[in-house]
Amino acid sequence: MTSRPETEQETAQSAVCAIEEKTEAKAGATRKVFVRTYGCQMNVYDSERMTDVLAPEGYQATDDLEDADLVILNTCHIREKAAEKVYSELGRIRKVKEQRAKSGKDMMVGVAGCVAQAEGEEISRRAPIVDLVVGPQSYHQLPSLLNRARQGAKVVETEFDIDAKFDHLSERAERPVQKRAPAAFLTVQEGCDKFCTFCVVPYTRGAEVSRPVAQIVTEAERMASSGVREVTLLGQNVNAYHGQGPDGATWGLGRLLRRLSEIDGLDRLRYTTSHPRDMDDDLIEAHRDLKSLMPYLHLPVQSGSDKILKSMNRRHTRDDYFRLIDRIRGAVPDIALSGDFIVGFPGETDRDFEDTMDLIRRVGYGSAFSFKYSQRPGTPGATMDDQVPEAVKSARLAELQALVSEQQKAFNASRLGMHCDVLLEKKGRNAGQLVGKSPWLQPVQLDAPENLVGTIQAVEIVQIGSNSLFGRLIEGQDETDFSGAIPAPAAQAG
Ligand code: 5AD
Ligand code: SF4
Repeated sequence: MTSRPETEQETAQSAVCAIEEKTEAKAGATRKVFVRTYGCQMNVYDSERMTDVLAPEGYQATDDLEDADLVILNTCHIREKAAEKVYSELGRIRKVKEQRAKSGKDMMVGVAGCVAQAEGEEISRRAPIVDLVVGPQSYHQLPSLLNRARQGAKVVETEFDIDAKFDHLSERAERPVQKRAPAAFLTVQEGCDKFCTFCVVPYTRGAEVSRPVAQIVTEAERMASSGVREVTLLGQNVNAYHGQGPDGATWGLGRLLRRLSEIDGLDRLRYTTSHPRDMDDDLIEAHRDLKSLMPYLHLPVQSGSDKILKSMNRRHTRDDYFRLIDRIRGAVPDIALSGDFIVGFPGETDRDFEDTMDLIRRVGYGSAFSFKYSQRPGTPGATMDDQVPEAVKSARLAELQALVSEQQKAFNASRLGMHCDVLLEKKGRNAGQLVGKSPWLQPVQLDAPENLVGTIQAVEIVQIGSNSLFGRLIEGQDETDFSGAIPAPAAQAG
């Protein structure tokens, strides 16, 4: 597994300029920063932190590239297309920079994130317009790094000093924040020690480190008091969380979630992304016990073939996964399961692929992310024999996605007529419409007045679309008295 996106989006997530979440920007700020985010939710969170760190320097976020004095690409290295996208984006930025230069305006360019960590100096060699390359553990140093770059140095900072980064995040957590969007991310853990043989994360994000409980609680309380109703805890391997508790003991994710569920106003908790090996009883019991822990779980398995799981160094079998799913569904029968799948890992035969399809049929997912295996330099998979031809990968991916899409439609359709809570997050496409999230992480569109943004409302699901659900407010009821829905449909691992 990995962090969702990083762990998980097939395509780069679109630009995030964190403008809704600007905090502490100096009045009279004169400089503008444009941050484009690729990849995982942790990058989205990090982009917000970069914007925060730059605010006291007089930088204000902008979503207009041409207006930017500083451009930062926060990159993802999980699959090769992502890095290529960064290089072609740098080509486009070069043209904008040249255009600005004609009117005497400068533009600095920084590359952050996992491509920065993995490629280091190679980036400024390949794209000379880049002034600054900064790895994920060094964002707190952005102001001083920018100063050095302004003096003409080509700056490359890719040290792993994660404790310093977390300490800095902690200082930030203690400052007041302005109004925030109703759903937010909070990094609790970074890095990964699992070393799956296809994955760059242990190399780009480093070893597993967990933030102390007190730091996380402080940040979550600040978020709640600034209007956040739902927090998604992030980590490349979030359920391996093992942070220092206020009592001096090491706390796991289940215990952390129990503590966070006590915070007033934080009505919804989620976490992503998890490894099957780290799904312990306490965490499963937290799903059973905590009303605020949403009935959704992203639990990547990658393959349904024991041979491939072994070669991927996943350290569990398909039967281990089935048993785990049974335990989870024993605690929360109606949970929406999501996963990640890789097709065409070296040595994957038709039979191995069929095992993956069989696993998907038996588990029944509410949604899933799937990828063609891509050779990542420096990982063991890249040099394995029996690489699978591209055409075979494409055919398998299409077949797998068709099955997942059928399951997703069935899961969505099973919500029809249900009453559930929806956190209303923002205005919809049409006038008078708002968009929110169901407990199972599906987008829900409905007619509602704008003043309900940021509230949780009881909603009846009245129609099912291809990517979202349509609902109607249930008059006279603020919230349902259950976090899930009625009636609970049968949803058993097969
Ligand atoms: N090739 C294809 N997919 C990959 N992922 C990670 N590394 C690779 C790779 N080399 C996928 C995994 C992971 C998700 C975030 O990205 O499915 O869970
Ligand atoms: Fe997830 Fe494995 Fe990558 Fe760790 S090494 S982030 S467990 S895929």
